[in-house]
Amino acid sequence: TEARTARTDLAGRHVVVSAGGTREPLDPVRFLGNRSSGRQGVALAESAARRGARVTLVAANVADSLLPEDPAVTVHRVETTLELREAVRAAAAGADAVVMAAAVADFRPAGRSEHKIKKAPAGDGSTAEPEPIRLTTNPDILAELAADRLRPGQLVVGFAAETGDGTGDALSHGRDKARRKGADLLAVNQVGATQGFGDVPNDVTVLDRAGEVVARAAGTKTEVADALWTSVVERLRQAST
Ligand code: CTP
Ligand code: CA
Repeated sequence: TEARTARTDLAGRHVVVSAGGTREPLDPVRFLGNRSSGRQGVALAESAARRGARVTLVAANVADSLLPEDPAVTVHRVETTLELREAVRAAAAGADAVVMAAAVADFRPAGRSEHKIKKAPAGDGSTAEPEPIRLTTNPDILAELAADRLRPGQLVVGFAAETGDGTGDALSHGRDKARRKGADLLAVNQVGATQGFGDVPNDVTVLDRAGEVVARAAGTKTEVADALWTSVVERLRQAST
């Protein structure tokens, strides 16, 4: 028989993971969306389940073929940011940790047309310039979770994909975000032309809420997920001693 090396350091824990990318409808057939596949969030859910946790995965527009089959993972499918917020908060009420790996739309269309938006008004053959799309701000689900702590002692974790720009490198943007969000941990994925999307290696730095580095992980989304749970487990242990 093979030696079993499975870690069970999340046994008895309930964790919530959001994954994928939210879609904000403009009308019944169109939406504003993003390119997140949900793979990192799915890897987090699978990793936590392997380590003994009961997992609630809130999946925003994740392809069925990517969803975990582990019976320890309960999947809730959502589409919009407001739906994601409701599902995450409902599950978070009983969770030891919440990890926001979903790419959440910062804005949504201010209005949603009940009918398909037409190229030109009825009976008008003209090609007038289109109306601009008016946007409104979505709630910041992570910041709310960090402020509300829906269960006492709950660990709140965010993810941020950052590139450098004229004002600073990826890590300095991550540090600012860690301090701003109020989450216990922020996993900063340093993305560039060849990093962070698709099947290329990830380069993740885990920061605490002061912006200090607590862990680093490079490699597959599974390796990143395992490293992040190790940081979470350490924090949960510290809190309970
Ligand atoms: N997030 C969230 N609700 C939002 C926007 C983001 O919960 N409305 C969460 C994401 O799930 C992620 C973290 O916040 O865990 C960081 O998201 P990011 O888009 O990097 O941060 P923002 O504060 O939106 O900053 P910006 O997009 O300007 O970089
Ligand atoms: Ca954002």
